[in-house]
Amino acid sequence: MSETIILGIESSCDDTSAAIIKGNQILSNIADSQEIHNEYGGVVPELASRAHQQNIIPVVQKSIMEANIQQKDISAIGFTRGPGLLGSLLVGVSFAKSLAMSLNVPLIEVNHLQAHILAHFIKDANIVPPQFPFLCLTVSGGHTMIVLVKDYFDMEIIGKSIDDAAGEAFDKIGKIFDLDYPAGPIIDQLAQKGDENAFTFGKPKLQEYNYSFSGVKTSVLYFVQKQVKANENFVQENLHDLCASVQKTIVDILMNKLKKAAKDLKINRIAIAGGVSANSKLRSTLEEYSAKLGWEIFIPKFEYTTDNAAMIAMVAQLKYERKIFTDLSVTASSRYEINEDDLTM
Ligand code: KG4
Ligand code: ZN
Repeated sequence: MSETIILGIESSCDDTSAAIIKGNQILSNIADSQEIHNEYGGVVPELASRAHQQNIIPVVQKSIMEANIQQKDISAIGFTRGPGLLGSLLVGVSFAKSLAMSLNVPLIEVNHLQAHILAHFIKDANIVPPQFPFLCLTVSGGHTMIVLVKDYFDMEIIGKSIDDAAGEAFDKIGKIFDLDYPAGPIIDQLAQKGDENAFTFGKPKLQEYNYSFSGVKTSVLYFVQKQVKANENFVQENLHDLCASVQKTIVDILMNKLKKAAKDLKINRIAIAGGVSANSKLRSTLEEYSAKLGWEIFIPKFEYTTDNAAMIAMVAQLKYERKIFTDLSVTASSRYEINEDDLTM
């Protein structure tokens, strides 16, 4: 029997992406990032939906072409059902439903957060996937959480942010420094040449494994406002040190709770996922912890950290093997929880 070929579609925020997977192996992974939001300092939902509508067909066509397959070879369509921006999701959901109907193949809904985590199972010569159970620090622009992953589709959130997500903190602090959106990768880059101990910012004191990042943002804002009064070029003159210090603060906050969770739950298989898992300081700190504490660590390939359709295709593949299909009457779910029962048929 020939191997299953699945098309995955991702449109939850500002990246229109399509990927083809064949037996856990990615044949193509195309993304069209919407530059239009840069000038607004954040994602503008209406513009995002419109850009998805423009991009979706060319992106899907390119994914098929690059995978060197034909539409008729596709065995199923996987799509992001949520969570995300409703207008953005609607474009991907409607397109996936129509294509599944016209090709007469099963439709498979995918939870975007599960997908970030299950991206670890994409086949790659240099990567060994984690065994269950493992802890996954899932950090993106919209979410920050420690997830206990017991099985592919059995996940429990044991801690999460009570306000801003880690990526959101990077982006909002970047705005204070007058950096473009998304500021996370820019701060990472500028921090390379900075002294991370140059400035210290307040850290939250929260119970258990929960996070808070709005205090860090406010602390940076007040500090910068005060310094700028004395020297209007303060940010420009100290940009590298500011970025390194902010990055260290955010990574320390993330790692402290992760360390506590790993110790309390006696789990030493630790993964990271989501856009912020691209951060070089988070990656190197995780490696230090691994050496110190004997953690077995799992760091996703760079291209599977920020939003991408390869991870959606991966989950669709796992569901296809388990015959978990979705009815064509499905609707987008902007608040789709990571452990919510799938509305499957
Ligand atoms: O997972 P993702 O692409 O989208 C969401 O599901 O939210 O994550 C995007 C977030 C943005 O906040 C972006 O600034 C952050 O990930 N990010 C980074 C880095 N690369 C992306 N943050 C820090 N360092 C990076 N290298
Ligand atoms: Zn994401």
